[in-house]
Amino acid sequence: MRRVASSLTPLILVDQRSKKPLHRQIYEAYRAAILNRHVHPGQQIPSTRGLTSELGISRLPILNAYSQLLAEGYLEARPGAGTFVSSTLPEHSTTIQHAGISANKSSSGHRPVSRRSSVLPRYNLPPRIFGRGAFSVGQIPTEEFPFRIWSKLIMRCTRNVQTAALHYSDPMGSETFRETIADYLRTSRGVVCDARQILIVSGSQQALEIASRVLTDSGDDVWIEEPGYPLAWQVFKMAGCRLIPVPVDEEGLNVSAGHRRSRKARVVYTTPSHQYPLGVTMSASRRLQLLDWAQRSGSWIIEDDYDSEYRYDNKPIASLQGLDRHARVVYVGTFSKTLFPSLRVGYLVVPLDLLERFVAVRHAMDIFPSQLYQAVLTDFIQEGHYARHIRRTRLTYCERRNALVDALRHECPEVKVLGEDGGMHLVATLPKGIHDGQISERASLEKLWLWRLSPCYLDRTRSRQGFILGFGSTTAHEIPKAVHRLRSLIKSR
Ligand SMILES: Cc1ncc(COP(=O)(O)O)c(C=O)c1O
Repeated sequence: MRRVASSLTPLILVDQRSKKPLHRQIYEAYRAAILNRHVHPGQQIPSTRGLTSELGISRLPILNAYSQLLAEGYLEARPGAGTFVSSTLPEHSTTIQHAGISANKSSSGHRPVSRRSSVLPRYNLPPRIFGRGAFSVGQIPTEEFPFRIWSKLIMRCTRNVQTAALHYSDPMGSETFRETIADYLRTSRGVVCDARQILIVSGSQQALEIASRVLTDSGDDVWIEEPGYPLAWQVFKMAGCRLIPVPVDEEGLNVSAGHRRSRKARVVYTTPSHQYPLGVTMSASRRLQLLDWAQRSGSWIIEDDYDSEYRYDNKPIASLQGLDRHARVVYVGTFSKTLFPSLRVGYLVVPLDLLERFVAVRHAMDIFPSQLYQAVLTDFIQEGHYARHIRRTRLTYCERRNALVDALRHECPEVKVLGEDGGMHLVATLPKGIHDGQISERASLEKLWLWRLSPCYLDRTRSRQGFILGFGSTTAHEIPKAVHRLRSLIKSR
């Protein structure tokens, strides 16, 4: 049974001037709320005294209505606890048909929605992506998460909460948190920045949304990597931009190809440290070429550095932003990979002259970021837990990555493995003639969550078939069995 907040008052409208007696109005309102599932079996409802003061009427009609509802079994009284919607009402019986009331309001007449929202595909991600299962992308090893430390810090931050922390606050985020992030980025990612340039956001997705609103106008060309990150496309599509797919080769984004396709793109969105999804690291010469192109064409580069803390065979790659001499790069980072995605905390590093626009847009959008986790994260990073957690998970991922690569080489020699140097996923491309869609649906029945590679291509005629295989939440012990199941699926397609 769904857990619901207790003692919330359902919307009861009483009309003192109506010919219908008050007790009858209250009875009918409750009955409809129960049958329409506006309140749920087992949910506590207000006491008769509480409802009397809320409705501002005498208590008698309320007592009458409650006693009728109790007698008919819609409510139950629990001595010492209060009055509840009957928990024995079967869920399916509390349907609108029984009440003879239609919750499905007729949707007729002209019902316009924006063109902007219509450019997005329907939201229809399969529910499996939210669950854990072999190869799911973006899943973390929850067993490694330092829950004890994390909850201790949450307790500390909530216990010592200052009244100021309850008020509206700086759209950029907490100053100490921004200083902590700036220190981290300078040291670990080679980002050239100070705290003034850091804007705290609710993950990379919001960072991209803000950046698109500041940097682009409808009709602008935006280079995106091909294949690339569909959630980034959606942001620029919604902004009315024209997406220019620029191929990714073994050196990363092919700048010359981009230049041929659109000389004056306003923005390029790129993942140079660990290209999503192929995992390529952009070469030094491409980085310089891209920065040079951006400077000459007056374009902006959005660098999405989403998982580069995880490198296994060589040292971390410094950010593109750190090479930028002309403040052309807007840098985006997130805690979704290093900690956990439901945290919804990320950051932007913004060139100083753009700050004022970024802050204004952010303020208009959601005013400022939520406070609690900024405080928790500040302590978590400053006390060394973050660095320790990254070191520990890096070892775990490396072990899982090795197990996956070995198993794929052994069991599925026909697939090509790409991008295994870092991150929490790699790509396995399928031999000619096999379509990823043929396999992924059947795979979910086997508890294999296979993310398809082909939808990451904007130009579907050029798309490669394969899978993006996450190894974050599958143990090294489970991986060979999961790969064996994958092999059977490929063979029996
Ligand atoms: C390319 C890329 N950028 C960013 C993210 C993280 O997004 P967010 O910070 O909004 O959770 C992901 C997650 O899968 C990703 O693949």
